[in-house]
Amino acid sequence: MKTTVISDGSDLARRISRRLGARHVRYAVREFPDGESKITLRGKISGRIIVVKSAYPPVDTGLLHALSLIARAREESSEVIAVVPYMGYARQDREFLSGEIVTMRVLGRLFRGAGASRVVVVDIHSTAGLRLFPIRTTNVTAIPDLARHVKKMRLKDPLVVSPDRGGEGRAKKFAAELGTGYVALEKKRDRSTGRVQIRTRSTDVSERDIVLVDDMISTGGSIVKAAQFLKRHGCRRVYVACTHALLVGDAKKSIAEAGVAGIISANTVPGRTPVDVSGAIAEAVRP
Ligand code: R5P
Repeated sequence: MKTTVISDGSDLARRISRRLGARHVRYAVREFPDGESKITLRGKISGRIIVVKSAYPPVDTGLLHALSLIARAREESSEVIAVVPYMGYARQDREFLSGEIVTMRVLGRLFRGAGASRVVVVDIHSTAGLRLFPIRTTNVTAIPDLARHVKKMRLKDPLVVSPDRGGEGRAKKFAAELGTGYVALEKKRDRSTGRVQIRTRSTDVSERDIVLVDDMISTGGSIVKAAQFLKRHGCRRVYVACTHALLVGDAKKSIAEAGVAGIISANTVPGRTPVDVSGAIAEAVRP
């Protein structure tokens, strides 16, 4: 059965489509003054259909586009795969404070209800969120692609650092790819204000180049605090390698002001460092 890829024409989607030898159908979006979207497919769709839509900000709009495309695709096909490289709401995978709605569970139902038979994401914040989906899910990783890029940078005595304990597994994997060691800092985030603090007392990073590894950068708060801490402890240069560089608001500026020498990220968000993750995604969805 032939495969059709539906996308907004992003670099990542075009590459996935090319790797699969699929027919690529783009869609156009017209935004109405009240914020509604009018989505129009630019070609015929059939066969096995893969909808590629990353849910970077505006997150809710991106998700509604993905769901609308899936629903339309399901009218033409019995097999619809949703590729959502950056899955918004992934951090809302449990009730942290009483009364909070676990929106990841809601999303799972919406993806199934729209007609997706499977959802593929990249380096999701935590796989706990995917376990709330009532359909098959796959979490692809960009870590080997990011590490390959960092390897070429010829860093001095590099050390991989996770800004928090939750990212320790990610840092371990990255360090293994790089052939170096790793540490995980202890971060505390105030659940009401979002304020971040590094609780680790000290660490030996003197004269080492640091690769701070994270799944995503949103406001940059976590990276700024971690970079400031590492600089205070005498490290050499600090680079950041993350999969999803959302870089909301002044994030880029604050990160540069904290002394970060560069951000390496994947093409799950358009317009960032072009570390291409299409190979891993194409392998995951190949028939
Ligand atoms: C949190 O645990 C995540 O892995 C990221 O570190 C965090 O969500 C990034 O958000 P921000 O850039 O706003 O600190």
